[in-house]
Amino acid sequence: MGCELGVLGVGHLASALLDGVFKRGVLAPEQVLLSDAHPVHLDRFAAMGCAIASANADLKVAPRLLLAVRPQSFEEAASTLGPCADDQLVISVMAGLDSGRIRDALGGSCRMVRAMPNTGATYGASMTCVATGEGGTEEDLRWTTDLFGSIGLTTRIEESLMSAATAVCGSGPGWVYLLASSMVAGAREVGFDEAASEAMVRQVLLGASSVLEHSSSDLDALLDAVASKGGTTEAGLAAMRAGGFEEAVRAGIVAARDRGDELSS
Ligand SMILES: NC(=O)c1ccc[n+]([C@@H]2O[C@H](COP(=O)([O-])OP(=O)(O)OC[C@H]3O[C@@H](n4cnc5c(N)ncnc54)[C@H](OP(=O)(O)O)[C@@H]3O)[C@@H](O)[C@H]2O)c1
Repeated sequence: MGCELGVLGVGHLASALLDGVFKRGVLAPEQVLLSDAHPVHLDRFAAMGCAIASANADLKVAPRLLLAVRPQSFEEAASTLGPCADDQLVISVMAGLDSGRIRDALGGSCRMVRAMPNTGATYGASMTCVATGEGGTEEDLRWTTDLFGSIGLTTRIEESLMSAATAVCGSGPGWVYLLASSMVAGAREVGFDEAASEAMVRQVLLGASSVLEHSSSDLDALLDAVASKGGTTEAGLAAMRAGGFEEAVRAGIVAARDRGDELSS
């Protein structure tokens, strides 16, 4: 079985992706070559049958490379990788680095695709945005979409919207965790202890997520359905709106997008 994909950086994100890819049979472990600064990150995958590169530069025997190091590690990683060939597809999940910059650092001739998943990947529930970058083809985008389809839903976007995708999808779980933590604080305020508050809030969010997953109603209808006139939910929603909840969430997403643009420039 030939090598189909080389992976540089096998941390949280790449490990979740590889688990999904092998579970769904998109690739077999024998088709993947891995490299990471920490051999311990590779042991589990080596036991499954993945090949382990002895140096980053060896990854380039693969026709496609996934770059899954942190953005601040990229320059150093690129220098150990060396120039990539023009028939090589390079897929980057790194936030804030545009495809032109990555391609230039890799010799200027490879084909680029970018993908922005999130931590839902660990449980097969990522929302991943994919975009062709410099030199990338429709076939490259299709291959990448199939790969990330193994860890959740995918949607195609223009690369110019990658910082926006990072703000909505990549960082998205963070917004929900802040909501969860604020709800726990509210539960404490109305009389529950920490453990009970957290257990209740986690289950409430799971229940609401299940409704979002299974119901065909739009968001306004779902809100209407829980906020009967003169009732408790309506009172709570009114207080949250008056406190600037909606504006704060909107501004947070815009700030995350702006920070992504700033990091890319
Ligand atoms: N985690 C997410 O949910 C998520 C979501 C969307 C996008 N992403 C993107 O995915 C990328 C990886 O994120 P992550 O959370 O998986 O990071 P991570 O857990 O830190 O994994 C990166 C791995 O790459 C290794 N590495 C760094 N430089 C290397 C080099 N030159 N050669 C070999 N290995 C090297 C790191 O080792 P050291 O620890 O020694 O540096 C680490 O083991 C980031 O660019 C991030 O923007 C992540």
